[in-house]
Amino acid sequence: MDYICAAIGTVGVLNITAEAPTLFNAQAPKMKFQGSKNYVATPDLMLAVNAAATLKRPLLVKGEPGTGKTMLAEEVAQALNLPLLQWHIKSTTKAQQGLYEYDAVSRLRDSQLGVEKVKDIHNYILKGVLWQAFTADEPVALLIDEIDKADIEFPNDLLREIDRMEFYCYETRELVRAKHRPLVFITSNNEKELPDAFLRRCFFHYIKFPDADTMKQIVDVHFPTLKKELLAAAMKTFYDVRNMPGLKKKPSTSELLDWLKLLVAEDIPLEALQSSDQKVAVPPLVGALLKNEQDVTLFEKLVFMQRNNR
Ligand SMILES: Nc1ncnc2c1ncn2[C@@H]1O[C@H](COP(=O)(O)OP(=O)(O)OP(=O)(O)O)[C@@H](O)[C@H]1O
Ligand SMILES: [Mg+2]
Repeated sequence: MDYICAAIGTVGVLNITAEAPTLFNAQAPKMKFQGSKNYVATPDLMLAVNAAATLKRPLLVKGEPGTGKTMLAEEVAQALNLPLLQWHIKSTTKAQQGLYEYDAVSRLRDSQLGVEKVKDIHNYILKGVLWQAFTADEPVALLIDEIDKADIEFPNDLLREIDRMEFYCYETRELVRAKHRPLVFITSNNEKELPDAFLRRCFFHYIKFPDADTMKQIVDVHFPTLKKELLAAAMKTFYDVRNMPGLKKKPSTSELLDWLKLLVAEDIPLEALQSSDQKVAVPPLVGALLKNEQDVTLFEKLVFMQRNNR
């Protein structure tokens, strides 16, 4: 049975009622999440998207790197036919940049040059993603990606905006209020703790590392023509590597996909992945799976010990 459809069949309906500001127009037909042929969503993930939309709270998504957090926002937005505004957070990003920035330098220069547009301060307000999302004519999805990269004050500075969906622009003396409540996705890699007051305002979901069946579905989405035997051998090797105790960086979904891409591109034979005695061997192109020298050394040691214990 199609996994994606199974998920949608049980929990995939986004039932959203209208209040001001609204996520979707109450008069509009109920939006159904149609799933995505590019993204495998487990039932609990679909439930989380549904719950966040019902609560009208941002969906805070955590999970190991490469487990599809960013892609979730892209796929849900596409499936619901919402434009997606993206805000990729860096260590230097300030909350204010998501609202607006006032370009005082340009205004000063223009006033010295006697440029006409200097009379209207609106010409010097650079609208951030939240401003754009709040004032969009249609409902939009908003991705605040990797919120944990910013400093601790960043989430605290966005509490009111996320809660009330409004903020004040002092320069133009206007209250910017959401016409439609955006569907907000926030991702985090857990590099920093998020403040409790911020967490209270979100619905939380942790994307668990996919089990073997789900992983097969994901691989199938990306490599529909991959030979079953090669997939089975590659998956066994991948989970052997991943389950090795003491790894500094476990390979994740995106690493498996990269590795498979290389195996196909280099035409690596099935035998290179399977040792006749069922013992662990260093896989070809291991650099796609293990990303630091300690992990590679650890893996080689394990293989060496296994070989000597026969
Ligand atoms: N459930 C899934 N269905 C289909 N593809 C997936 C899924 N999960 C991960 N992938 C693949 O893994 C890649 C990485 O996903 P994505 O960039 O969304 O991860 P992430 O969790 O945001 O990682 P990071 O924390 O490093 O930003 C995607 O481009 C996609 O190819
Ligand atoms: Mg990401």
